[in-house]
Amino acid sequence: MSRSGYERLPMSWGSSAGTSPSSWCSMRPRTFFGLLKIIVPLVIAAICLVFIFFEPHLELVFYSREWIRSEIEPILPLMGCFNPDRVSSTYNVSKYVYGPKTNELQAGVPMRMGLDCYDFAATIKAPSRQSGAPHVPSEERVQYHTYWRVDLAPFGERQEWMLKSFFATQNVDNSRLILWSNGDLGGNEILQKYRRRFPNSFDLRVVDIPSLARGTPMEGSKYLQSNDKKAWIDGDLIRLLVIWTYGGVWIDMDSLLTRDLAPLLEHEFVTQWDCYDKLYQALNGALMHFRQRSPYLCEAFHIMATSKAPRADSTDWGSILYMKLWRSLIAAHIPPFKILPFCFSDGRACRLDNRLPDPFQPDKSSGKWTMGIGMEENGGLDQTLGKVFSLHLHNQWEKEFPKGGWVERLLLKKYDSKLRGRSEDEL
Ligand SMILES: *[C@@H]1O[C@H](CO)[C@@H](O)[C@H](O)[C@H]1NC(C)=O
Repeated sequence: MSRSGYERLPMSWGSSAGTSPSSWCSMRPRTFFGLLKIIVPLVIAAICLVFIFFEPHLELVFYSREWIRSEIEPILPLMGCFNPDRVSSTYNVSKYVYGPKTNELQAGVPMRMGLDCYDFAATIKAPSRQSGAPHVPSEERVQYHTYWRVDLAPFGERQEWMLKSFFATQNVDNSRLILWSNGDLGGNEILQKYRRRFPNSFDLRVVDIPSLARGTPMEGSKYLQSNDKKAWIDGDLIRLLVIWTYGGVWIDMDSLLTRDLAPLLEHEFVTQWDCYDKLYQALNGALMHFRQRSPYLCEAFHIMATSKAPRADSTDWGSILYMKLWRSLIAAHIPPFKILPFCFSDGRACRLDNRLPDPFQPDKSSGKWTMGIGMEENGGLDQTLGKVFSLHLHNQWEKEFPKGGWVERLLLKKYDSKLRGRSEDEL
């Protein structure tokens, strides 16, 4: 019995050959395994070679066609926040939306070749700072906002670098940084130090979402309770609410500023997600600027309040929302907000050959960034950092900056020397 099952196999395969085992059948296993012996090592060798010479980057995302039909394709009607009778008296549409501007922020081409994006950033000229400018009260300054979730991690030295980067690169005479949090940070020693040192240009606030939302189309919305672990949804909401209420710039805490943002602020803007312009994920809010009571934000709240609930861990109230808003604006023939090219705030978000080096890796032994560009002080990389405005670290809070690495040499050390012995009064 045990043999019959074995013998039946060649017969059923080679039925035309009758009982004599056909050469086709009897030879096949041997040839097959013989071929495998050659093919398998070849394939392995080929894969090894590919990995030696290339770093494969693949991203496969599945978007539900139903979701695209219902959430992406429809262009939602505006609420009318730009109507003259609706616009806040603090917002001058003819000046902010239609008025002449000094700097152009958008290039019109993707700037994926070479270091084009960085060179474009260098075309943005900084206005000269007036020395001995009169004192500006805190409330009248350019407001900068950032947010720290006290339940994610304690605020320590690694987080302090963002504050140092702010006070070393921005004009402390006419700006104020508000560090928002979801719990009291007043007892933190690091933060107390900055409060003492920069009493007019630094403040701590605890977010109260329902009260910030008062008077917006989001007031009383059940969506205000949304909260997800990555701090994406609530972070996305908070930035819109605080900018609406106070106006100004939002900077994610996982950023290091490299240049004064002042020349950008004649525009209202979000940023490009990366240099690839993914169809549904082209825009990012890690750095954004809108004026107080901006009708752009009023329309954003309207879209949030009338769309489906945001999905947890999604960019429904970030990237997707900005895109919906942008499309609705142009459909209503209103000049849209601007989109900063990726490298202005996230030079990491492009190809291997033209993105900034990994901030958490030691310098390459060649001492070069890319295309033969040096990483020494006053070298090509140093100059590039002075062209762009911010370095986005993409969270990675658990990682340290390598000792003697480019971030320490070209950014951290400079922040420290700039801040050493300087207080607000002396600046
Ligand atoms: C708005 O801005 C324009 C252009 O700068 C100016 O002429 C006008 O007086 C401003 N309107 C108000 C109400 O301030």
